[in-house]
Amino acid sequence: MLGEMPLPRLVIVSNRVGVPEGGARAGGLEVAIRPALKRRGGVWFGWSGRITDEDPGPAKTAQHDNVAYVTIDLRRDDYDEFYNGFANRVLWPILHYRLDLAEFSRRDLGGYLRVNEYFARHLEKILKDDDIVWVHDYHLMPLAQALRERGHKNKIGFFIHIPCPPPEILTALPNHERLIPALGFYDLIGFQTEVDANNFSRYLTDECRLKQVADDTFAIDGRSVRVGVFPVGVETEAFARLARRAVETAFVREVLDSLSGRAMIIGVDRLDYSKGIPERMHAFERFLANFPDWRGKVTYLQITPRSRTGIQEYADIGRTVGETVGRINGAYGEASWTPVRYINKAHSRTALAGLYRAARAALVTPLRDGMNLVAKEYVAAQNPDDPGVLVLSRFAGAAHECAAALLVNPYDSEGVAIALNRALAMPLDERRQRHAANFKVLVGNDLSRWAERFLATLEKPAMSAAPLRLAAGRVRT
Ligand code: F6P
Repeated sequence: MLGEMPLPRLVIVSNRVGVPEGGARAGGLEVAIRPALKRRGGVWFGWSGRITDEDPGPAKTAQHDNVAYVTIDLRRDDYDEFYNGFANRVLWPILHYRLDLAEFSRRDLGGYLRVNEYFARHLEKILKDDDIVWVHDYHLMPLAQALRERGHKNKIGFFIHIPCPPPEILTALPNHERLIPALGFYDLIGFQTEVDANNFSRYLTDECRLKQVADDTFAIDGRSVRVGVFPVGVETEAFARLARRAVETAFVREVLDSLSGRAMIIGVDRLDYSKGIPERMHAFERFLANFPDWRGKVTYLQITPRSRTGIQEYADIGRTVGETVGRINGAYGEASWTPVRYINKAHSRTALAGLYRAARAALVTPLRDGMNLVAKEYVAAQNPDDPGVLVLSRFAGAAHECAAALLVNPYDSEGVAIALNRALAMPLDERRQRHAANFKVLVGNDLSRWAERFLATLEKPAMSAAPLRLAAGRVRT
């Protein structure tokens, strides 16, 4: 009897690498990738998180169980131009619909392309012919092109964890003709939502004049390039179990004791302008002003680890939030009650799971977000018999699945204040129904299915495509 064919090796590539016990911090991306990679085994390649003033030297490998973590250091000018510069001061704001915050420079674009070449050079040393390569996020859009130019014919997939705006915004990206069509060198390009995938497809049809040869397939340079929707999930049931245990820990008990019986509202976000934290603070201020009965009865805990501290906009947002919190606490606080607890310290997954379960409501109100796993984890963490209520921005990818949350427009602070009042006053029956509906969807789209679906689509044989030329980064029909 023939045994099962061994699966080809999986090589994950992302800017950050979640090396166990390593210094690097990969955030939401790590939460999504690690379980998939552990299940199948393989390689996780990317930046070590270290910056050096010398020659970065060879890649370092750390083997943990069935995963080899291969990391490279970045030179300081690469870090400044690639990471702080082009990735986070140009692509991040533009892809989050914030043209007003984008600061383009040709030097940073050069650094971005240079680091993608640097990644390709290192990958070349470890790639085998039949490896499946899965590249993640906006830092590495031209990587497939750099690999193809080195002769690699592997299946290469790309998943973008953040939004993709419509072509009217994408075309405001200087040199978009060099960058966006370069995604056509991947075999599969995955997005979080239909909206993102449609925006990208519209860029290919309107801007590059490409034709779809099937529903989700474009013919580019003689190859079939698929565009797909793969909403990232969480490990729903496992997270629910974790939260059940975590709510009993000494840490969560201490937090709850310190609230003296007040209801807790929770917000957890990286300190980033896309998360809408100042707008949310204004909404909470309106809530205290418009619904005075809640004064002294609720505490809003906002956990916000600092991020990308080398970038001016991030320092600005930190100052704005700090000042707003101070104003609210000054105006409404009592000697025995602080309305907003604002904390920059990062918390463990277990601590967050427990806090989510203990919170009567969660405010997840980004101005724009690819998915937002906090929203999903909050739902997963609830006690189904007495669940809290999720107040969720309609502009988070998670709103497509968590449609039974209270969906809000984060720019409308009065609307958010009304929703928060409704969440806190919601009868048990309605809370249960809303939670059950959201939980069911999240169990159906557990994180394990996300990776399986993406990889199965990537590995599916592609239909043959009529040759259309893709030259010098420009797609032409
Ligand atoms: O997809 C969003 C992302 O870039 C992820 O890679 C990461 O989880 C998060 O933002 C944190 O960003 P950074 O790596 O810049 O700290």
